[in-house]
Amino acid sequence: MKVTIDGQSIEVEPGTTILQAARMIGGEVVPPAMCYYSKLKGSGGKCRCCLVEVAKGSEADPRPMPKLMASCVTGCMDGMEVNSKSSPRVQEARKSVTEFLLINHPLDCPVCDQAGECDLQDLSFEHGKSESRFIEEKRTFEPENIGPNIQLHMNRCILCYRCVMVADQLTDDRVHGVMDRGDHSNISTCISKAIDNEFSGNMIDVCPVGALTDKTFRFKSRVWFSKPYNAHRSCPTCSGKTTVWMFGDEIQRVTGRKDEYHEVDEFICNGCRFDHKELADWTIEGPRAFDKDSVINQNNYTRKLDKVEIATEDHILIGREEDRKKISMAEIPLTEEDIINQKSLGNNG
Ligand code: SF4
Ligand code: FES
Repeated sequence: MKVTIDGQSIEVEPGTTILQAARMIGGEVVPPAMCYYSKLKGSGGKCRCCLVEVAKGSEADPRPMPKLMASCVTGCMDGMEVNSKSSPRVQEARKSVTEFLLINHPLDCPVCDQAGECDLQDLSFEHGKSESRFIEEKRTFEPENIGPNIQLHMNRCILCYRCVMVADQLTDDRVHGVMDRGDHSNISTCISKAIDNEFSGNMIDVCPVGALTDKTFRFKSRVWFSKPYNAHRSCPTCSGKTTVWMFGDEIQRVTGRKDEYHEVDEFICNGCRFDHKELADWTIEGPRAFDKDSVINQNNYTRKLDKVEIATEDHILIGREEDRKKISMAEIPLTEEDIINQKSLGNNG
């Protein structure tokens, strides 16, 4: 089947959605997605960020679709013509959806661990307005403890349902779901049971905002100060292929490896994520490739940056040189010799 999106045509298999076809084309035509997650069955259709205009339904029935369609749940038809970024109507709709998502979302990026890798932050950077028309009080929830590893901050949740699908599809016991309806909807562990399943930490990776964050990394650093490296270990539970986020030689956080759509390549187990923060635990492969432009790219060693000279008194910069070294990325952070030394230290300790 042939489908054309923003003037670019591609052949796709029956059953392909417009969003999947757009991702096959790549680049600017790809609609934003806050709830669709290709690795989770049944995801999508909740956030409406991915709206597109279907200007021609199909070769057999060329009538345009009257309403904008959610591209993540709309199948391609042969001869379909779709407008995504090129349509002013779509751009306007994305702006409105962003405004709706921000109605209840707190503007606490300066203190949120997700800042710098937040899909909503990226979305509002591209489609947001600089002011809000919302003068009512934002929806707030009482803090709820959902266990030792995951921090739930319900006020930030946009109800995308991804974490519920992780709970459903990756863990044996679902102890976590969406409670209540409408404005009262909230993610809860149903009777506040701790989530102790071996794969529950993946909820942190799939959450597009800062509603579920890693308690072991909380407030340790801003993501743009850490250096992400792909690393692996031999793990009996998962593939052991992760990204470790380092400050100097310290591993501050372990996450799944994400692609250009911020989706993990493979889900990882809680053992790798929360319990292995020593260098001796990991074989570091090299810097993580950045496919998507975002604030953490600023720390990407492949990007050539102009040197900035700060004209200020000397003593203010004391210690800064040391910090700069800790956050700048060498191609491989440790030599073979360093790794052998670290491993022997780890074994002796
Ligand atoms: S907690 Fe995060 S992943 Fe779960 S529904 Fe809310 S926004 Fe989505
Ligand atoms: S990504 Fe399509 S509706 Fe959320």
